[in-house]
Amino acid sequence: MTEWWKKSTVYQIYPRSFMDSDGDGIGDIQGIISKLDYLAELGVDVLWLSPVYDSPNDDNGYDIRDYQKIMSEFGTMDDFDQMLQGIHARGMRLVMDLVVNHTSDEHVWFTERPDYYIWKNEPNNWRSFFSGSTWQFDEARQQYYLHLFSKKQPDLNWENEELRDEIYQMMRWWLDKGVDGFRMDVINMISKDQDFPDGIEGDGTPHFFNGPRVHEFLQEMNAKALADYDIVTVGEMPGATTEDAKLYTGSERNELNMIFTFEHMNLDEGPSGKWELQPLHLPDLKENLEKWQVELFGKGWNSLYWNNHDQPRIVSRFGNDGPYRKESAKMLATCLHFLQGTPYIYQGEELGMTNVAFSSIDEYRDIETLNMYQEKRAQGIPHEELLESIHAKGRDNARTPMQWDASENAGFTKGEPWISVNPNYPDINAADREEEDSVFNYYRKLIALRKDLDVITEGEFNLLHRADEEIFAYTRKTADEQLTVYCNFSETPREVPLPKGRLLIGNYPDSALQETIGLRPYEALCFYDKDRKVKE
Ligand code: NOJ
Repeated sequence: MTEWWKKSTVYQIYPRSFMDSDGDGIGDIQGIISKLDYLAELGVDVLWLSPVYDSPNDDNGYDIRDYQKIMSEFGTMDDFDQMLQGIHARGMRLVMDLVVNHTSDEHVWFTERPDYYIWKNEPNNWRSFFSGSTWQFDEARQQYYLHLFSKKQPDLNWENEELRDEIYQMMRWWLDKGVDGFRMDVINMISKDQDFPDGIEGDGTPHFFNGPRVHEFLQEMNAKALADYDIVTVGEMPGATTEDAKLYTGSERNELNMIFTFEHMNLDEGPSGKWELQPLHLPDLKENLEKWQVELFGKGWNSLYWNNHDQPRIVSRFGNDGPYRKESAKMLATCLHFLQGTPYIYQGEELGMTNVAFSSIDEYRDIETLNMYQEKRAQGIPHEELLESIHAKGRDNARTPMQWDASENAGFTKGEPWISVNPNYPDINAADREEEDSVFNYYRKLIALRKDLDVITEGEFNLLHRADEEIFAYTRKTADEQLTVYCNFSETPREVPLPKGRLLIGNYPDSALQETIGLRPYEALCFYDKDRKVKE
């Protein structure tokens, strides 16, 4: 089978916030169908759909009640089939979100097959990602069940072979329907240390991140559910190192095609975790991305991402969402899209959408944010301090509705949106995409370049100007092609030497190139040199 996913760009849709077709304020499948031409225009190859399965929505669909039914707010299975057909008709592919570390507590298994879950007479000290203990007492059973996320998301017991077979069967059912792969939610947490030891200060992660049987389970899944299909798989893996990644993605190992690392997303936080804000030190980011580029070269495959439904908007995070919003959005895109790996674009990133700063906690919807707020308020932490963290890091930054145009509610819904629209929608929306300098157009060019130039997929990575705190620069080289990328992550104008080759793409309309390059605020330039051997 060809590795088509190496030249693909993936676009993530968070259905609840993408497009509402029926005015109930919640995005839906017919809404997605109405925007397929938009996605084809952007040129993306693969759509990754966050969960659309039947769910009580404790965690917006990441708590699944029925894996083979569509959430009624999103539509029906007929709508789904129509969408899949529309995606394929436009030459794109569809990747489904596979959430099998846990289900909803409303899944029929939870009452009918308790042996599919993890029960203990005594809880250990592990703390949930969504605050509080990971153990919930069940009155009927007089035992505690494990939930790494909310108490309505009980963890599945992967030690149970019958459960595993049911999951593989369900996966085949979707693949037989024609879907083109899976993004696997926290898939490196499915194997728990069966001793369930206490963690240091309640941190259980060493006992379930990349746990004892995880590779065995993934190889089994590959053999029983994946190997017969021409698909793509990507595993979401907090806490996976490059060493782990080589095992998960090495082509000889028959596990997954690629994983999502979290390392570069954790560089702007303090020791207590994501809510402890810390400015990014650019050399840390360069060093980290370099490590993934170099260590996986020829040994695995990277996913490249700045954004998803769990992360704040990158232009507000590592860029500038004020006067240099467009420039920095394009600069960040340049920096990422010329790396080796498969790039992921999260809805609205192609418009340079920004974080939102709601002033009242009542406007927030995300369970992680709300639980954290409640817990920390009870500990006496001031509202303002918590709000500052939420503004910077809360997941709802990514979940405000997609900004289609300047009409009411950004053209997302004719009703009352389930979460408020970012008030900047009159200025930032998809209606300007025809303009030559739109962020959308820039992404479109990057996506097209990846298909044309093999050096983007294959070239070896070399970091330049390692210690520089403002410039991220690197080369990519094959035997006969070279790319040189310069990105200014600051407002300070800088001079750098002019590299070989012609200017392939830049994020300012006129780039001043002489003996040196004057890099303006957030300027990004990529140079391309062919037949390098002959010239050298
Ligand atoms: C990771 C998902 O991306 C996130 O949105 C979700 O809350 C957790 N896994 C639990 O499913």
